[in-house]
Amino acid sequence: MCEQSARDPWEGVVSKRVTAAVLSGLLAASALAGCGGDGDSGDGGGPDKLTLGFSQVGAESGWRTANTKSIQDSAAEQGVDLKFVDAQGKQENQIKAIRNFITQRVDVIAFSPVVESGWDTVLKEAKDAGIPVILTDRAVDAQDTTLYKTFIGSDFVLEGKKAGEWLTKEYEGKTDPVNIVELQGSPGAAPANDRKAGFAEAIAADPKFKVVASQTGQFTRTDGKQVMETFLRSQPKIDVLYAHNDDMGLGAIEAIEAAGKKPGTDIKIITVDAVKDGMTALSTGKINFIVECSPLLGPQLMDLAKKVKAKEEVPQRVLTEETTFTPEQAKAVLADRKY
Ligand code: AHR
Repeated sequence: MCEQSARDPWEGVVSKRVTAAVLSGLLAASALAGCGGDGDSGDGGGPDKLTLGFSQVGAESGWRTANTKSIQDSAAEQGVDLKFVDAQGKQENQIKAIRNFITQRVDVIAFSPVVESGWDTVLKEAKDAGIPVILTDRAVDAQDTTLYKTFIGSDFVLEGKKAGEWLTKEYEGKTDPVNIVELQGSPGAAPANDRKAGFAEAIAADPKFKVVASQTGQFTRTDGKQVMETFLRSQPKIDVLYAHNDDMGLGAIEAIEAAGKKPGTDIKIITVDAVKDGMTALSTGKINFIVECSPLLGPQLMDLAKKVKAKEEVPQRVLTEETTFTPEQAKAVLADRKY
């Protein structure tokens, strides 16, 4: 498999490009307003202008909001005619959007799949219509990898492993049982499946670690809070919370504080994403460790889509570079965190 590693943080963007992005963003916004809000620039485009149909998962988390902004800003900056559709967390909406993109004869289709399974039929329809597809952020489990051109995003299994490895180090040399509760992402989504698997693998060798409860919090703050409330009621002793994203962790912190406990001290907390709110909680010690998952996929997505349209070779897998953060590291970068 051909792999390309890349990182594209907002810092490092020179002021001229920012000005261009703001101008083109304004143009795109006014075009959007005149087109019923589906993101169609409506300018007809030139013969070489790339038309990209993008189906987003929804707006469930801070990560998703930053990811949407990255894609919309990059499209405006790079002169891409973006047709953006929000699936509101439903696979059927994404399938409908992809079929509409096929009917509209867009140049390239990209989407971040709500769940991993059930894409073969619609991907085959796109392939038969000669419209290339790019998977963004999340994978699908289709056996036939010719159904899509490339997949850009994180290694979610590795993210789960990093979370588990931090925990094993934190409790190194200790023998008492460590009771863990887990807030999973939305059922069937690649990051929920993979972050669970990676974490389980990392803690498997030491029997003192026990996942005593594991339930979905749908990647949202509201559900994270509600599920944590039930965990706190049903579990006599909770040492650690592992949440598959910051938002669920932040919701859980509210539940922990309402129960009279100190997040980060009475219950250690590990999350994934490293969005600004999560990093703020980390810097104050309410979260103990965050595994980064970068939402800033827009610039690379536009580059890949242009290459795919031009029938240039693209890597089968474009892996996002990511790090991890302790409270001290969060304090050092917080002021510059843009999302
Ligand atoms: O697919 C990426 C995940 O989706 C993010 O980690 C989570 O916050 C989002 O909802």
